[in-house]
Amino acid sequence: MTNQTEKFEQPDATRRDFLLTAAGAMTAVGAIATAWPFIDNLNPAADVLAAGAPVDVDISKVQGGQKITVLWRSRPIFIVHRTPPALDMLQQARDVDLLADPESTVLQQPEYARNWHRSIKPEYLVVVGICTHLGCIPRLEATPGGSLGSSWPGGFFCPCHGSRYDLAARVFKGVPAPYNLPVPPYRFVKDTVLRIGENPPGPGADFDLRSIVQL
Ligand code: FES
Repeated sequence: MTNQTEKFEQPDATRRDFLLTAAGAMTAVGAIATAWPFIDNLNPAADVLAAGAPVDVDISKVQGGQKITVLWRSRPIFIVHRTPPALDMLQQARDVDLLADPESTVLQQPEYARNWHRSIKPEYLVVVGICTHLGCIPRLEATPGGSLGSSWPGGFFCPCHGSRYDLAARVFKGVPAPYNLPVPPYRFVKDTVLRIGENPPGPGADFDLRSIVQL
């Protein structure tokens, strides 16, 4: 098993997206992909995931500014540890104006993630890493500006047809992708352990992934 994390970095048009795992995640890694679906050699643990079992992820080693990817139900789940400046950026009016659905009105997330940061805890984003256009895997381009232009606030960029999402995975206006990236059911079982595939108690506790508009 390979454990890797991905650091916020400047855009790199040649860099490919890797599936990564967090320590303790129940899944194999090593696949490289530009489109979905692509995994054709699941190990037994991944078979369990494909069947829908929740997966616990230790996020204690994920530093601010890093992203990890785990597999759940054969889908890449992005977990991003957002920094305070990144959270500030999410709330700036100039950047919210760039977004197609800044209030998350379309059902692309459970109720407990329908907020400005689209998550349970502001510092941790958890989303299905599949572009809502035609299913490519967006890459993290967290640094503002750079080759994506001076107005780029940081977020996810899909290289297939140029769709853009901010660091709350909210889709920009005027790009091919129609919806924000989906938020899967998840909860914190400890401060540093996420359980993907299980809702927390309270509003949204009955959330079912099948109710997502575009998965
Ligand atoms: S699949 Fe992402 S922009 Fe087309």
